[in-house]
Amino acid sequence: MQHEMQMSILKELLQKLDDDVNVDAGVQYKSPTAFYTCPDQAQKEWALFFRNHPQLIGLSGDLPTPGSFVTTEDFGVPVLATRDKDGQFRAFVNACRHRGSQVATEDRGEASRFICPFHNWTYSPAGKLVGIPREKDFGKIDRSCHGLIELPAVEQYGMLWVHPNATGKLDVDALLGDFAPEIEDWDIGRLKYKGVATMDKRLNWKLANDTFGETYHFSRLHGSTLNNIFYIFYGDAIAYEANGRNHRFVFPSRSIDLLRTLPEDQWDMEGMAVVLYYFFPNIQMTVNRENVTIFKIYPDKQSIGRSITRVCNYISPELQESMDTGARVVIDEVNVYDQEARDGGNEAVSPEAVNEIVNSTLEQEDYYVGEMAQKAAESGALEYLIFGRNEPALHHFHTNYRDALGMPPLEQL
Ligand code: FES
Ligand SMILES: [Fe+2]
Repeated sequence: MQHEMQMSILKELLQKLDDDVNVDAGVQYKSPTAFYTCPDQAQKEWALFFRNHPQLIGLSGDLPTPGSFVTTEDFGVPVLATRDKDGQFRAFVNACRHRGSQVATEDRGEASRFICPFHNWTYSPAGKLVGIPREKDFGKIDRSCHGLIELPAVEQYGMLWVHPNATGKLDVDALLGDFAPEIEDWDIGRLKYKGVATMDKRLNWKLANDTFGETYHFSRLHGSTLNNIFYIFYGDAIAYEANGRNHRFVFPSRSIDLLRTLPEDQWDMEGMAVVLYYFFPNIQMTVNRENVTIFKIYPDKQSIGRSITRVCNYISPELQESMDTGARVVIDEVNVYDQEARDGGNEAVSPEAVNEIVNSTLEQEDYYVGEMAQKAAESGALEYLIFGRNEPALHHFHTNYRDALGMPPLEQL
């Protein structure tokens, strides 16, 4: 993110903290709870937003070398994504052209060949059919048209995008809109993949997504224990910007107060605020120069009231080095909630610290209350939820979602 933009956001946040005001959308909405339970709607969103919508499957660091691969079935189509021997990112339907078995069964790894477990037809990382056992018995197969079915795949700005439909259109600039230059600027393509946590929860994917839509709850839901993000971040003050169907949402770390005594030309967002991007329909991504965490939220196709969240961590080579050498103060899972342990924004925030926050906060608290809301929605006894003036990200997501499915707009309270 450009320095001027960082300055402007940091100033806005400090002003809001000083004035004790939050972002104000100027309107409150009613959101029907059927939104989280309607089978017809679930079917439409699955078809439109998952089976036929570009999907962010990860970052360049997920495929660090030629021969690296990852697999996913999260959006209905089994996908095998590879980096071929020329370094090209490719994606295929992970289904053998003989009788459909998956040719790669691990979540990720390295392979020079993908050997189908059923009868050992063999494919290259570029998807070519390169081996058929006992072809003399099986009969001749035209290998040139029986490679893995290729899907549109684009690696851009350090992101790996796949379209689950072989004839789908994939335009990353259009998907990112005005945030594209910012994403490019973060240079997230150089980050290393550090692991994934999966949360399988009893709440609709949109309720899971909603939990990222405000910090109004920070001091309430997350203020109840000392081991909590409320002691790292301020709630009730966000800098919010929508662009198309996406948005950017920045909230301050408590360290932001250090800026008050620092000359403005030395200001830097790192360690002072959290930048959260939302990319339609199901991606939440926190970004700084050293850590990126991507939250990919998927419906459970079998159950409207369930969802899967995959939380993927990436870190910069510099952060890895700092942790390896101990050259900087390392924030880990033990000292993560201790402001005293921090080093004016120069501390090295480890993936273990991020995991601790995600576990104690998102899993134990946000999704805990989200599951309660799902029960209320399923009971049919609660007609609607309310989105406040300080929750513009919820207004934005629900408005865009409804518009995309041709639903009437939200009603004002
Ligand atoms: S199904 Fe793959 S080799 Fe037969
Ligand atoms: Fe939360």
